[in-house]
Amino acid sequence: MPDAIFAHPLLARVYDAFDEDRGDLDAYLAIAREWPTDLVLDVGCGTGSLAILLAGHGYRVVGVDPAEASLQVAKLKDRAERVRWIHGDATALPALDADLATMTGNVAQVFLTDDDWARTLRGIRAALRPNGHLVFETRRPERRAWQEWAADVDPVIRDVPGLGAVERRVEVTDVSLPFVSFRYTFRFLADGVVVTSDSTLRFRGRDEVESSLAANGYRVLDVREAPDRPGREFVFVAERSDRSR
Ligand SMILES: C[S@@+](CC[C@H](N)C(=O)[O-])C[C@H]1O[C@@H](n2cnc3c(N)ncnc32)[C@H](O)[C@@H]1O
Repeated sequence: MPDAIFAHPLLARVYDAFDEDRGDLDAYLAIAREWPTDLVLDVGCGTGSLAILLAGHGYRVVGVDPAEASLQVAKLKDRAERVRWIHGDATALPALDADLATMTGNVAQVFLTDDDWARTLRGIRAALRPNGHLVFETRRPERRAWQEWAADVDPVIRDVPGLGAVERRVEVTDVSLPFVSFRYTFRFLADGVVVTSDSTLRFRGRDEVESSLAANGYRVLDVREAPDRPGREFVFVAERSDRSR
């Protein structure tokens, strides 16, 4: 069950307003152009920012996410009809033969157990064509991003179309590495409604991610920086491993 921040109908509607700088997505668009790419599978597509960007550049796109409320937000966006939206996760996808699979916005960190992560990698692998690519990011544990979140005590207020001003506070509720838990509290200032969302993320190190990719049928081609967040993220570029070329 996805966290309320993605699955609660009100919180899904405010997600983009609090995540407004999507300069991170340009790097994924550039990566799609590195190889002959037609069909892209965006796993954990959320409110569809990358899927719709890619569709606008002529790619065929499938976006999958278990949070129905986020998909509903995505479907209302311009050009959303160009994307095939699937409510679900990577473990139960139809046959796709995708050229590229992506996970942006640190989706890789929502998989808390080794088993969930392995099943997701295998599900994506089955949806890729032979030698298709998988590209995703994850926060570097050594950068200890949660310390910044804990220091971030000031509320953020955004004006959300149709909902008015919304205030968000974040609090780190537990650090038991590799797991970090935090709570968002949203206050809808027009009517005083308060909704909270609790999340736990897993911070995997580079070696751990690389071995999990190898164990689940991928060859790691590169580990890059996220150009918009230097030093903070690993961007893994992997290839479905089928035969040597
Ligand atoms: C931080 S959001 C990122 C959304 C989107 N990729 C973006 O960049 O805006 C994480 C997303 O992962 C999704 N998610 C949670 N559990 C998942 C799972 N088991 N499989 C796929 N996606 C999942 C959430 O519903 C949410 O949309």
